[in-house]
Amino acid sequence: MNDLKHVAIIMDGNGRWAKKRKKPRTFGHDAGAKKLIEITKEAASKGIKYLTLYAFSTENWKRDKSEIDFLMKLLSKFLKKELKTLTKNDIQFRVIGDISKFSDELQKAINTTIEKTKNNKKMTQILAINYGSQDEIARAVNKITKEKITKEDIELTLDTKDFCDVDLLIRTGGEMRLSNFLLWQSAYAELFFTKTLWPDFSLKEFDDIIENFKQRERRYGGI
Ligand code: FPP
Repeated sequence: MNDLKHVAIIMDGNGRWAKKRKKPRTFGHDAGAKKLIEITKEAASKGIKYLTLYAFSTENWKRDKSEIDFLMKLLSKFLKKELKTLTKNDIQFRVIGDISKFSDELQKAINTTIEKTKNNKKMTQILAINYGSQDEIARAVNKITKEKITKEDIELTLDTKDFCDVDLLIRTGGEMRLSNFLLWQSAYAELFFTKTLWPDFSLKEFDDIIENFKQRERRYGGI
Protein backbone atom coordinates (compact mmCIF):
# COMPACT_ATOMS: atom_id res chain seq x y z
CA MET A 1 0.00 0.00 0.00
CA ASN A 2 1.40 3.40 -0.95
CA ASP A 3 1.92 6.00 1.71
CA LEU A 4 -0.07 9.18 0.97
CA LYS A 5 1.45 12.36 2.38
CA HIS A 6 0.77 15.09 -0.18
CA VAL A 7 -2.38 15.50 -2.28
CA ALA A 8 -2.71 18.34 -4.81
CA ILE A 9 -5.99 19.32 -6.45
CA ILE A 10 -6.85 21.39 -9.52
CA MET A 11 -10.38 22.47 -8.63
CA ASP A 12 -11.80 22.94 -12.11
CA GLY A 13 -15.40 23.25 -13.25
CA ASN A 14 -16.98 25.94 -11.07
CA GLY A 15 -18.04 28.03 -14.08
CA ARG A 16 -19.63 25.12 -15.95
CA TRP A 17 -21.37 23.95 -12.77
CA ALA A 18 -22.99 27.39 -12.42
CA LYS A 19 -23.88 27.59 -16.13
CA LYS A 20 -25.74 24.26 -15.90
CA ARG A 21 -27.88 25.91 -13.22
CA LYS A 22 -28.32 29.11 -15.27
CA LYS A 23 -26.42 31.09 -12.64
CA PRO A 24 -23.43 33.44 -12.94
CA ARG A 25 -19.93 31.93 -12.75
CA THR A 26 -19.47 33.53 -9.33
CA PHE A 27 -22.21 31.25 -7.97
CA GLY A 28 -19.98 28.32 -8.95
CA HIS A 29 -16.97 29.82 -7.17
CA ASP A 30 -19.02 30.20 -4.00
CA ALA A 31 -20.00 26.53 -4.18
CA GLY A 32 -16.36 25.70 -4.96
CA ALA A 33 -15.15 27.44 -1.80
CA LYS A 34 -17.62 25.42 0.30
CA LYS A 35 -16.40 22.22 -1.33
CA LEU A 36 -12.81 23.20 -0.61
CA ILE A 37 -13.56 23.31 3.13
CA GLU A 38 -15.41 19.98 3.01
CA ILE A 39 -12.53 18.22 1.21
CA THR A 40 -9.94 19.82 3.51
CA LYS A 41 -11.65 18.32 6.57
CA GLU A 42 -11.89 14.93 4.88
CA ALA A 43 -8.19 15.01 3.90
CA ALA A 44 -7.16 15.80 7.48
CA SER A 45 -9.31 12.97 8.82
CA LYS A 46 -7.61 10.57 6.37
CA GLY A 47 -4.16 11.36 7.79
CA ILE A 48 -2.94 13.29 4.72
CA LYS A 49 -0.15 15.67 5.76
CA TYR A 50 -0.22 18.28 2.96
CA LEU A 51 -3.18 19.35 0.82
CA THR A 52 -2.38 21.85 -1.92
CA LEU A 53 -5.29 23.51 -3.72
CA TYR A 54 -5.04 25.57 -6.92
CA ALA A 55 -7.27 28.56 -6.19
CA PHE A 56 -5.87 31.29 -8.48
CA SER A 57 -3.22 30.91 -11.18
CA THR A 58 -0.81 33.46 -12.66
CA GLU A 59 -2.89 33.09 -15.85
CA ASN A 60 -6.25 33.77 -14.14
CA TRP A 61 -5.58 37.55 -14.34
CA LYS A 62 -6.77 37.19 -17.96
CA ARG A 63 -10.36 36.74 -16.73
CA ASP A 64 -12.92 39.56 -16.59
CA LYS A 65 -12.20 42.13 -13.91
CA SER A 66 -15.55 41.42 -12.25
CA GLU A 67 -14.70 37.72 -11.85
CA ILE A 68 -11.21 38.54 -10.51
CA ASP A 69 -12.68 41.04 -8.03
CA PHE A 70 -15.18 38.42 -6.91
CA LEU A 71 -12.44 35.81 -6.38
CA MET A 72 -10.38 38.28 -4.31
CA LYS A 73 -13.41 39.07 -2.12
CA LEU A 74 -14.19 35.38 -1.84
CA LEU A 75 -10.63 34.75 -0.67
CA SER A 76 -10.98 37.39 2.10
CA LYS A 77 -14.32 35.96 3.19
CA PHE A 78 -12.92 32.45 3.02
CA LEU A 79 -9.94 33.36 5.22
CA LYS A 80 -12.25 34.70 7.93
CA LYS A 81 -14.53 31.68 7.77
CA GLU A 82 -11.72 29.16 7.49
CA LEU A 83 -9.87 30.16 10.62
CA LYS A 84 -12.52 28.43 12.73
CA THR A 85 -12.35 25.22 10.69
CA LEU A 86 -8.55 25.25 10.66
CA THR A 87 -8.30 25.79 14.41
CA LYS A 88 -10.94 23.19 15.24
CA ASN A 89 -9.28 20.59 13.01
CA ASP A 90 -5.65 21.39 13.96
CA ILE A 91 -4.78 22.42 10.39
CA GLN A 92 -1.98 24.80 9.50
CA PHE A 93 -2.54 27.32 6.68
CA ARG A 94 0.16 28.21 4.15
CA VAL A 95 0.24 29.71 0.67
CA ILE A 96 2.38 29.30 -2.43
CA GLY A 97 2.52 31.87 -5.23
CA ASP A 98 3.44 35.52 -5.45
CA ILE A 99 1.08 37.25 -3.04
CA SER A 100 2.85 40.61 -3.43
CA LYS A 101 0.45 41.30 -6.32
CA PHE A 102 -2.56 41.29 -3.95
CA SER A 103 -3.90 44.30 -2.03
CA ASP A 104 -2.16 45.14 1.27
CA GLU A 105 -5.34 44.26 3.13
CA LEU A 106 -5.55 40.81 1.55
CA GLN A 107 -1.85 40.14 2.14
CA LYS A 108 -2.35 41.06 5.77
CA ALA A 109 -5.33 38.71 6.13
CA ILE A 110 -3.32 35.89 4.52
CA ASN A 111 -0.34 36.47 6.84
CA THR A 112 -2.59 36.67 9.91
CA THR A 113 -4.14 33.28 9.06
CA ILE A 114 -0.66 31.78 8.55
CA GLU A 115 0.49 33.21 11.89
CA LYS A 116 -2.60 32.11 13.84
CA THR A 117 -2.39 28.52 12.59
CA LYS A 118 1.37 28.06 12.64
CA ASN A 119 1.39 25.66 15.59
CA ASN A 120 -1.33 23.38 14.21
CA LYS A 121 -0.03 19.89 13.58
CA LYS A 122 -2.52 17.51 11.97
CA MET A 123 -2.29 18.72 8.38
CA THR A 124 -1.09 21.69 6.32
CA GLN A 125 -3.52 23.21 3.85
CA ILE A 126 -1.60 25.04 1.13
CA LEU A 127 -3.52 27.47 -1.05
CA ALA A 128 -1.90 28.19 -4.42
CA ILE A 129 -2.78 31.81 -5.18
CA ASN A 130 -1.28 33.87 -7.97
CA TYR A 131 0.66 30.67 -8.48
CA GLY A 132 2.23 29.30 -11.64
CA SER A 133 5.01 26.70 -11.66
CA GLN A 134 7.06 28.52 -14.26
CA ASP A 135 6.83 31.77 -12.29
CA GLU A 136 7.76 29.90 -9.09
CA ILE A 137 10.85 28.32 -10.70
CA ALA A 138 11.92 31.65 -12.25
CA ARG A 139 11.53 33.41 -8.87
CA ALA A 140 13.51 30.64 -7.17
CA VAL A 141 16.39 30.76 -9.66
CA ASN A 142 16.57 34.54 -9.24
CA LYS A 143 16.92 34.10 -5.48
CA ILE A 144 19.92 31.76 -5.83
CA THR A 145 23.17 33.65 -5.98
CA LYS A 146 25.48 30.69 -6.69
CA GLU A 147 27.06 30.18 -10.08
CA LYS A 148 26.48 26.46 -10.48
CA ILE A 149 22.88 25.82 -9.50
CA THR A 150 21.95 22.25 -8.56
CA LYS A 151 18.58 20.49 -8.44
CA GLU A 152 18.77 20.66 -4.63
CA ASP A 153 19.38 24.44 -4.71
CA ILE A 154 16.17 24.86 -6.70
CA GLU A 155 14.19 22.46 -4.51
CA LEU A 156 15.27 24.32 -1.37
CA THR A 157 14.24 27.68 -2.84
CA LEU A 158 10.84 26.86 -4.36
CA ASP A 159 7.68 28.13 -2.60
CA THR A 160 7.12 24.50 -1.58
CA LYS A 161 10.51 24.09 0.14
CA ASP A 162 8.86 23.17 3.47
CA PHE A 163 6.66 20.44 2.00
CA CYS A 164 7.34 17.04 0.43
CA ASP A 165 6.75 16.28 -3.27
CA VAL A 166 3.23 15.56 -4.45
CA ASP A 167 2.12 11.90 -4.23
CA LEU A 168 -1.33 12.27 -5.79
CA LEU A 169 -2.57 15.00 -8.11
CA ILE A 170 -6.30 15.20 -8.84
CA ARG A 171 -7.93 17.39 -11.48
CA THR A 172 -11.69 17.74 -11.62
CA GLY A 173 -13.66 19.18 -14.55
CA GLY A 174 -12.58 16.78 -17.31
CA GLU A 175 -9.51 18.53 -18.74
CA MET A 176 -6.37 16.39 -18.96
CA ARG A 177 -3.60 18.90 -18.36
CA LEU A 178 -1.55 20.34 -15.51
CA SER A 179 -2.06 24.04 -16.33
CA ASN A 180 1.24 25.25 -14.81
CA PHE A 181 0.52 23.61 -11.42
CA LEU A 182 3.35 22.04 -9.38
CA LEU A 183 5.28 20.86 -12.45
CA TRP A 184 8.52 20.27 -10.52
CA GLN A 185 6.89 18.81 -7.41
CA SER A 186 4.69 16.38 -9.40
CA ALA A 187 7.60 14.74 -11.25
CA TYR A 188 6.57 11.35 -9.81
CA ALA A 189 3.02 12.10 -8.71
CA GLU A 190 0.23 9.70 -9.58
CA LEU A 191 -2.28 11.61 -11.70
CA PHE A 192 -6.02 11.31 -11.50
CA PHE A 193 -8.45 13.09 -13.82
CA THR A 194 -12.21 13.09 -13.27
CA LYS A 195 -15.03 14.62 -15.31
CA THR A 196 -16.86 15.60 -12.12
CA LEU A 197 -17.17 19.40 -11.81
CA TRP A 198 -15.47 20.68 -8.62
CA PRO A 199 -18.64 21.68 -6.69
CA ASP A 200 -20.01 18.13 -7.33
CA PHE A 201 -16.82 16.36 -6.18
CA SER A 202 -18.04 14.11 -3.36
CA LEU A 203 -16.24 12.75 -0.33
CA LYS A 204 -16.99 9.28 -1.71
CA GLU A 205 -15.21 10.05 -5.00
CA PHE A 206 -12.27 11.52 -3.08
CA ASP A 207 -12.04 8.41 -0.88
CA ASP A 208 -12.27 6.11 -3.93
CA ILE A 209 -9.40 7.97 -5.65
CA ILE A 210 -7.29 7.60 -2.48
CA GLU A 211 -8.01 3.85 -2.41
CA ASN A 212 -7.07 3.57 -6.10
CA PHE A 213 -3.83 5.50 -5.42
CA LYS A 214 -2.86 3.10 -2.64
CA GLN A 215 -2.99 0.15 -5.04
CA ARG A 216 -0.93 1.77 -7.82
CA GLU A 217 2.62 0.58 -8.40
CA ARG A 218 5.07 3.47 -7.92
CA ARG A 219 8.51 2.78 -9.40
CA TYR A 220 10.13 6.25 -9.52
CA GLY A 221 12.05 5.32 -12.67
CA GLY A 222 13.24 2.00 -11.22
CA ILE A 223 11.99 -1.45 -12.18
C1 FPP B 1 -11.73 26.73 -11.90
O1 FPP B 1 -13.05 26.71 -12.34
C2 FPP B 1 -11.64 27.41 -10.65
C3 FPP B 1 -10.91 28.52 -10.40
C4 FPP B 1 -10.10 29.23 -11.39
C5 FPP B 1 -10.92 29.09 -9.08
C6 FPP B 1 -10.94 28.08 -7.99
C7 FPP B 1 -11.65 28.67 -6.88
C8 FPP B 1 -12.39 28.01 -5.99
C9 FPP B 1 -12.55 26.54 -5.95
C10 FPP B 1 -13.12 28.74 -4.96
C11 FPP B 1 -12.29 28.97 -3.78
C12 FPP B 1 -11.55 30.17 -4.05
C13 FPP B 1 -10.92 30.88 -3.17
C14 FPP B 1 -10.38 32.15 -3.67
C15 FPP B 1 -10.76 30.48 -1.77
P1 FPP B 1 -13.42 27.52 -13.64
O2 FPP B 1 -13.89 28.85 -13.22
O3 FPP B 1 -12.25 27.52 -14.58
O4 FPP B 1 -14.60 26.65 -14.20
P2 FPP B 1 -14.89 26.31 -15.72
O5 FPP B 1 -13.69 25.55 -16.25
O6 FPP B 1 -16.10 25.44 -15.64
O7 FPP B 1 -15.13 27.59 -16.41
